[in-house]
Amino acid sequence: MEDKKILFSAVQPSGILTIGNYLGAIKNWKNLQNDYNSIFSGADLHTLTVKQDPQTLRANSYQLAALFLACGLDPEKSIIFMQSHVPAHAELAWVLNTITYPGELSRMTQFKDKSQKHQENINMGLMDYPVLMAADILLYNTELVPIGADQKQHLELARDLAIRFNGRFGELFKVPEPYFGKTATRVMSLQEPTKKMSKSDANLNSFISMDDDKDTIIRKFKRAVTDSDNKIIFSEDKPGISNLLTIYSAFRGISIKEAEAEFEGKGYGDFKVKVGETVADVIDPIRQEKNRILSDKTYIDAVLKDGAERASRIAYKVLSKVYKKVGLLPRSR
Ligand code: TYM
Repeated sequence: MEDKKILFSAVQPSGILTIGNYLGAIKNWKNLQNDYNSIFSGADLHTLTVKQDPQTLRANSYQLAALFLACGLDPEKSIIFMQSHVPAHAELAWVLNTITYPGELSRMTQFKDKSQKHQENINMGLMDYPVLMAADILLYNTELVPIGADQKQHLELARDLAIRFNGRFGELFKVPEPYFGKTATRVMSLQEPTKKMSKSDANLNSFISMDDDKDTIIRKFKRAVTDSDNKIIFSEDKPGISNLLTIYSAFRGISIKEAEAEFEGKGYGDFKVKVGETVADVIDPIRQEKNRILSDKTYIDAVLKDGAERASRIAYKVLSKVYKKVGLLPRSR
């Protein structure tokens, strides 16, 4: 790898991705991969923290890998792999667990939300999830982590653990910085615009999936919850319209101000259709390309195998330094 800074990010294969994942994360990765040594992962071990149907999880993992490629992540430039294929992630998570306090994990917003949502399955993994995420990041001496706003708290824990480990055992980990895109770091639900858009939402009208076709997209935007005053402006007391303006401007690559000017004097109906068409024009070709790639699983397997091998080489160098620092005997070669 060239002598550039290291960037790491990941997405869970917990369903078909939404335009929230796209705008908040993957869209930025494509450009960043030119300036950083980039490592992109399917966080499949994280996905197990919520009950999964094994067959669906397998299908979603292929979907995710194909989508990465269709969005322009380039396996020649970047490392693309599945987290479970590099056991060092789970190994480092174990060591980091020994310097993490339960209180740090039980107060995580996402843990609280998910415990509420999955009351029948509040498992240790759900609580430990941010430690595994810290391991993902620290294992590669990562300096930059592009994420949406909802992952900020988890990134802070990764920073805390890096500093704590270095303080206790001697300088080793880089302290990673988050990278947030200029806009759309938090795309909201179309049905409850004060809540984050989420791929695991039971209400299918609340999110636009990267698999939705043009008609579905326009129908969902038409049904999006807004308000009744008919002014297309960005404002805290207009979460629905503000969310649509955010989505529109991010997909068009223009500012919110420019989007507001474009729709001045127009009605909500026309606006919603225009947002839908704009989104569909961008994601239609991505979906088609994803489906083309999906029909060649041998190619996807080869990309993931090569990615896992390259990731392992970096990861095990760092992990062996960790094991040495904490006093474990070196592995025999
Ligand atoms: P996940 O799979 O929930 O989401 C993947 C990425 O998409 C962003 N995102 C959003 N951005 C804007 N608006 C939204 N509505 C929205 N929903 C999701 C997320 O912020 C994220 O960047 N724990 C992580 C995966 C992970 C990871 C990591 C990320 C595992 N290890 C190491 C970075 C570094 C997660 O569950 O993301």
